[in-house]
Amino acid sequence: MRPMASTAFELKGKAVFVAGHRGMVGSALMRRLAREQADLLTVSRSEVDLRDQAAVNAWFAAKRPQAVFLAAAKVGGIVANNTLRAEFLYDNLAISANVIQAAHANGCEKLMFFGSSCIYPRLAPQPLREDSMLTGPLEPTNEPYAIAKIAGIKMAEAYRSQYGADFISVMPTNLYGPGDNYHPEYSHVVAALIRRFHEAKVSGAADVVVWGTGKPRREFLYVDDLADACIHLMKTYSSPELVNIGTGEDITIAEFARVVAATVGYRGEISFDTSRPDGTPRKLLDVGRLAKLGWRATTSLEDGIKLAYQAYLNETKQAAE
Ligand SMILES: NC(=O)c1ccc[n+]([C@@H]2O[C@H](COP(=O)([O-])OP(=O)(O)OC[C@H]3O[C@@H](n4cnc5c(N)ncnc54)[C@H](OP(=O)(O)O)[C@@H]3O)[C@@H](O)[C@H]2O)c1
Repeated sequence: MRPMASTAFELKGKAVFVAGHRGMVGSALMRRLAREQADLLTVSRSEVDLRDQAAVNAWFAAKRPQAVFLAAAKVGGIVANNTLRAEFLYDNLAISANVIQAAHANGCEKLMFFGSSCIYPRLAPQPLREDSMLTGPLEPTNEPYAIAKIAGIKMAEAYRSQYGADFISVMPTNLYGPGDNYHPEYSHVVAALIRRFHEAKVSGAADVVVWGTGKPRREFLYVDDLADACIHLMKTYSSPELVNIGTGEDITIAEFARVVAATVGYRGEISFDTSRPDGTPRKLLDVGRLAKLGWRATTSLEDGIKLAYQAYLNETKQAAE
């Protein structure tokens, strides 16, 4: 393996574009970047749909961001990924291709691309190392998303090797926290469980059904920890190799459901709907590379779920007002 280059990149005073700034990751990046004295650039989807190549090129030519966090993507849980297969492939390919090319063509000095731990091969050895990407078949339920994300990572890598662009890619684990999507069918597991346990508590339901067997093991990272890791890497890391971002610890969905139920204050039964798909049996990142680069997660699962539940209560209250 090539040595990991470490170069200092200053964010202070730079024009920094957060693509997807209203999303869970993008808004966490905005919160964290507020401490960097950067000139933050954002654009709403109604002004520039990032699938629209001409609109993206015109916006980059006008704004000329010096650094880009590419946190815009079509994202969803297992049902959304499996049913909206064409949209997950097309949107994510188009967004990555348009933004990466426009960044390069308009003199962007540094770009961070976001992959995801769910794009590693379904049965890759655990904990998942960065070099296991493309070593085996993908999880069929999210193959379109994975193919698009892998293409984005390969683009960042190719722009580095062909043009010398300082484009890097990170692989976050499952994230949770403020700004999560609580859609009843299309959400990720953390948001889905917070919502279901909260609604059961409020309605006094005696049982909450959790999808799948409860046996798969998952790792969860609080999204503000992710943002902190991204800023650290943006400032210090420059290399074609991916960097996993996670806690390095996993938990079964059943145990996790109990943590969420306790945080929410739900005291009824928890049962498992085994007719629902489990997805990948285990998903834990090897965070050795990230640790060597000088960063580790600091928010415990219990504290993170408390913060996420508070954010859920605030967000649903705001939506109702
Ligand atoms: N969430 C996770 O657990 C997780 C885990 C690993 C990696 N990641 C990666 O992190 C990145 C961000 O994920 P997230 O969870 O923050 O997703 P998210 O909350 O759904 O946010 C996605 C953002 O992208 C924007 N977007 C989507 N399509 C767009 C388009 N055509 N034009 C302009 N903007 C568009 C959305 O805009 P609107 O606000 O207008 O909808 C939204 O702001 C993704 O690359 C994802 O793969 C996420």
